[in-house]
Amino acid sequence: MKNIDWKSLVFGYVKTDYNIRCYYKNGSWGQLEVSSSEMVSIHMAATGLHYGQEAFEGLKAYRGKDGKVRLFRWEENWKRMNRSADGILMQPVPKEIFEAACMKVIELNSEFIPPYGTGGSLYLRPLLFGSGPKVGVSPADEYLFMVFVSPVGPYFKEGFKPVKMQIVRDFDRAAPMGTGHIKVGGNYAASLKAGERAHKEGFSASIFADSKTKQYIDEAGPANFFGIKDGKYITPDSGSILPSITNMSLREIAEDLGLVVERRHVAIAEIPGFEEAGACGTAAIISPIGMIQDRESGEEFILSKNGEAGPWCTKLYNYLTGVQYGEVEDKFNWCTIVDNV
Ligand code: PLP
Ligand code: COI
Repeated sequence: MKNIDWKSLVFGYVKTDYNIRCYYKNGSWGQLEVSSSEMVSIHMAATGLHYGQEAFEGLKAYRGKDGKVRLFRWEENWKRMNRSADGILMQPVPKEIFEAACMKVIELNSEFIPPYGTGGSLYLRPLLFGSGPKVGVSPADEYLFMVFVSPVGPYFKEGFKPVKMQIVRDFDRAAPMGTGHIKVGGNYAASLKAGERAHKEGFSASIFADSKTKQYIDEAGPANFFGIKDGKYITPDSGSILPSITNMSLREIAEDLGLVVERRHVAIAEIPGFEEAGACGTAAIISPIGMIQDRESGEEFILSKNGEAGPWCTKLYNYLTGVQYGEVEDKFNWCTIVDNV
């Protein structure tokens, strides 16, 4: 076990011992390679550098109550990575390579998995990019797939306390028929200006309005939005948001807890009617939203009066994290036990 102050971990980069790489060249994928270097050597004309041929994933491994290590829904991340690959014409990563890379990187860095009870987890960051040279705009002939890890704590410094978010209409992170539904680096580049301004203005993240009509909630920073109202779990359906695996899981949990799930356009005008709201994602887990400011009108909608997470956010959070840490029965079969750790 590494000498790390586990309870003070934030969501950030911590150097670990190994990462895994696999190269696609001459029409096929090579063998997995283990590396202890944090650096990659990239051709200066790589399409990943010039034309944004790059996608990534994020998933977590948890040290459970029983000492076992659980990797949460990796197959969904694999499928999404390949949808991203398809969306920007990169080579898909075979399932066995994705799985073996994830298992190997956890095994080799097992001393970096935060102990049970600290609230931390091991974040896996798979990435895939065009590494072959092109100067004309076209897909590369060569690709690099790699996975590194970092032990992490909460994404928002508030942890499981309500955060403030800001609705923006003067920036779009994604276009209606663009790449918002896949996890490509360009979406994050497009979100930086709004996000940094939101931070400067005292908010944890921006809530992007849909870029076509500006009437509906799209993405909540690096997470999906959900609201609770009249026994319903309501979450946006939009072609320009990332289909979150956490949200997909919470929809099943919500139903199991007796909520009715609605996945549909969610108007910004509905916000004052929500009893609770949250942002959900692998990094954010569930981040309750206590206040939403509409930057354009200056209106502020209060969703938590006492500075605490509401009852439904708490139940959803306890159920989801309970499954991840092996405290609650994994009846959906979401967790894969990692061997040799
Ligand atoms: N939306 C965006 C823009 C994200 O970056 C993420 C993080 O992956 C999510 C939503 C949440 O997705 P997931 O729950 O699969 O991590
Ligand atoms: C995640 O939740 O895994 C993310 O990718 C969010 C962010 C760190 C980009």
